[in-house]
Amino acid sequence: MNPGPSDPAADAAGKAAQDGAPAPEARRTAELAPHVCREIDRWVAKFPPERQRSAVLSSLRAAQEHNHGYLTVELMDAVAAYLALPPIQVYEVASFYSMFETHPCGRHHVSVCTNISCYLRGGEQIEAYVQKKLGIRPGQSTADGRIFLKREEECLAACTGAPMMMVDHVYYEQLTPEKVDQVLDALE
Ligand code: FES
Repeated sequence: MNPGPSDPAADAAGKAAQDGAPAPEARRTAELAPHVCREIDRWVAKFPPERQRSAVLSSLRAAQEHNHGYLTVELMDAVAAYLALPPIQVYEVASFYSMFETHPCGRHHVSVCTNISCYLRGGEQIEAYVQKKLGIRPGQSTADGRIFLKREEECLAACTGAPMMMVDHVYYEQLTPEKVDQVLDALE
């Protein structure tokens, strides 16, 4: 996975200052949904006592899924509070892994790999085709909120299936424009 583009806590602090919103320390922690808490409990139970930090990644994934595909600072704070960790340890994970988004985005997340194996097998043309088909650039979502085109990926470890893309964590390989149409048109 690739490092995320920004520090969500710093982003939030800057935005709060601009908006006249409460300072980060005055923020209210979001409520985690009961099923998110159950999912977190399930992951925490897999690790030795006092090692709940190991469940941060899975906890954030559960929180993100419940929040239409992205995390807010309040949600990250809630995960930190639930796991009894300093918020910074949760922000670090959320901003490092490209599987997490910290801004509102489309329901389905699409990433096209353009690293060397995919590049040699037409990955850049597939990326260009996806952009043209959806009318958006990497980092943008379609106007109907259906699809979020993430930035180009740097090898998703499926080189033998190049060119490939990932849609909502599912891999699609040996892509052609026709196959891209099939996959993207089926997303609701
Ligand atoms: S280069 Fe695309 S999956 Fe490895």
